[in-house]
Amino acid sequence: MRRTLFIATLLAATTAAFAQDGGIGGLRHGTPLDVEATPPPIPSVVNSDIRQVRNWPEQPPVIPHHIDNYQIDLNVNKCLTCHSRTAVEVSQAPMVSVTHFMNRDGQVLAAVTPRRFFCTQCHVPQADTEPLVENTFQDVDAVIGSSPTSGTP
Ligand code: HEC
Ligand code: HEC
Repeated sequence: MRRTLFIATLLAATTAAFAQDGGIGGLRHGTPLDVEATPPPIPSVVNSDIRQVRNWPEQPPVIPHHIDNYQIDLNVNKCLTCHSRTAVEVSQAPMVSVTHFMNRDGQVLAAVTPRRFFCTQCHVPQADTEPLVENTFQDVDAVIGSSPTSGTP
């Protein structure tokens, strides 16, 4: 009997905690446990074909086009049918950069290195949506501009 009461109290406390969580925290986003939420619509993928700014030099550029059903596995790499060294003349896509040919010792190989074969490990398309959390990232140019020593070489 006491155990049932304890479990009931625990459940009530958890439900209350979830109900209060109106923020980003829980996966249920404040929906009570006994309610089934309407899932938000799946945001559309940006398909502008306009290459985006890189926020720092080593950033893998984001993908400005759809990649639905683009297969990347042992036998096929759909991305390389446009982005490989030999494909770009026809596709007019930017070629994968030379780092994609380097092994871990920095030696440039003849073909894309296995380390860079699974493109979507690093490159991702963007969803047309509001940021889920606040982001205070500053571009390096802004950081340099606001530094007290800015202007000095
Ligand atoms: C049908 C040809 C084609 C295929 C297949 C393709 N791309 Fe692209 N990609 C392009 C073209 C063309 C651009 C240049 C911008 C544009 O027109 O969208 C581009 C742009 C990009 C860029 C931006 C480069 C930059 O400097 O900003 C990335 C990253 C990229 N693609 C990655 C991929 C990945 C990863 C895949 C596979 C999942 C892929 N692409 C498949 C044609 C293709
Ligand atoms: C391990 C992470 C990683 C993987 C995997 C990877 N890339 Fe990249 N990619 C990068 C980074 C980082 C850059 C930017 C710096 C550079 O060029 O190395 C880049 C740059 C690019 C660029 C722009 C090149 C330029 O000179 O403007 C293209 C296009 C690209 N990648 C396509 C691809 C494709 C296609 C694949 C799959 C075959 C792939 N990448 C796999 C990290 C990766």
